Amino acid sequence: SNEAGTDTPRAALVVVANRLAVERTTAADGSAGWQTSPGGLVTALVPIMQAKDGAWVGWHGAPDEELEPFHHDGIDMIPVALSAGEVEEYYEGMSNATFWPLYHDSVAFPEFHREWWDAYVAVNRRFAEAAASAADDNGTVWVQDYQLQLVPSMLREMRPDLRIGFFLHIPFPPSELFQQLPWRRAVLEGLAGADLVGFQVPGAATNFLNLLRRRLGWDTHRQEFVRPDGSRGRAAAYPISIATQAFEDLANSPEVVERAAQIREDLAAETVFLGVDRLDYTKGLRQRVRAFGELFTSGELDPEKVVFVQVATPSRERVEEYKRLRDDIELLVGRINGDSGQLGRPPIHYLHQSFPRDEMAALYRAADVMVVTPLRDGMNLVAKEYVACRSDNDGALVLSEFAGAARELKQAWQVNPYDIDGMKEAILAAGRAGKQETRRRMRALRKQVATHDIDHWAETFLADLDAI
Ligand code: ADP
Ligand code: F6P
Repeated sequence: SNEAGTDTPRAALVVVANRLAVERTTAADGSAGWQTSPGGLVTALVPIMQAKDGAWVGWHGAPDEELEPFHHDGIDMIPVALSAGEVEEYYEGMSNATFWPLYHDSVAFPEFHREWWDAYVAVNRRFAEAAASAADDNGTVWVQDYQLQLVPSMLREMRPDLRIGFFLHIPFPPSELFQQLPWRRAVLEGLAGADLVGFQVPGAATNFLNLLRRRLGWDTHRQEFVRPDGSRGRAAAYPISIATQAFEDLANSPEVVERAAQIREDLAAETVFLGVDRLDYTKGLRQRVRAFGELFTSGELDPEKVVFVQVATPSRERVEEYKRLRDDIELLVGRINGDSGQLGRPPIHYLHQSFPRDEMAALYRAADVMVVTPLRDGMNLVAKEYVACRSDNDGALVLSEFAGAARELKQAWQVNPYDIDGMKEAILAAGRAGKQETRRRMRALRKQVATHDIDHWAETFLADLDAI
């Protein structure tokens, strides 16, 4: 038990994220279990938290269920409960139908609802309280992502002894878009409660600092900002990454090597193109599938020799835009397979499923060309995972200019995902490239991902936070 009078274990490092690393599942017979939560945030943070012996505060993915803290996969998990109404208003509403589209270039129309905002404030307070009772005296709390932008300032008020970091996993928008937000001041003040505010790319940190100056009238000097009480914080870029070596080892394990060979045999194709994304409208799936459809129809890609495998992980399935996207993609894929397929040979293999990590590694190993074409993406870890799995230095990567990863993965075939003709050309060029060119590019990509892995990211951020 601790000062706050609860039985929550206390830790020197506490991570606070909307989701815990695992989510609650209910089997057909009603029994409860756990599975890895979707998305890049969890992929990135699990290996760090396993190594650092910290506590993880987050929601376990099921509404209206109070759970006691528990230990899973080497991590202390502290569940935060959300009611069904809060899931609708705070998570599906304010987080995923307001902030998510607004911060991704408004590629879908953001909705502004005052009730959603009220729920967002209330839930952020609950997470801040949970973090306040989980953190040791003078401990460090690291708040994650757009669902919890108010937590830093709330926590600062509750626990002035703490060091508070914040990291935004998604893009931070240009001020023209951000200013549409009716609650822009509260969000800026919320984030600036952190001692260190981290972003994926330098431009995002600049956007944030400019807004503090212009909207709040605060002083800023380079990466530093000054709050009205005279205290200071910093904002800078820390491009996130993956556990590169662990991915490479997994991809080289005998089971994965064998599974990859099996996948190649099952697909019986000369060239395998692969896409792996959450089924999200920011990922550019409509444009990508259309590009492949045109290439198959025109015969530039021969449906007898080439397959395109698209894994589309189920995501945010109750949000309208996501339902529409699923219908659109499934219509398009069905149409293309109907037009260009033969018995037993659909040119597009579409899988609306989640897979274990080793199956993902086998898919990455089995693909000749990985196609990652988001309209906007904070980083995109799938691109880095693919690179990590290609220890033979072959395999080509087609990558959107608008993914944060494009700054680091310069030797990929980079594309503007809005330009379908340009994308078609890059897909063909990557598919036809000679061994020598592919290897030259992959070697450079691998060097980048090997030297800038998830430990490098966490160590740099935490060292900078510590130095403030
Ligand atoms: P986002 O965070 O927007 O989902 P990222 O590319 O950064 O995008 O991260 C996605 C993460 O989810 C990666 O670690 C990837 O391996 C994982 N992932 C994506 N699709 C699946 C799937 N169908 N099954 C298992 N893991 C998946
Ligand atoms: O990495 C971005 C992110 O939005 C994470 O914050 C989130 O956990 C993940 O993608 C998956 O989305 P969700 O938690 O809404 O299923």
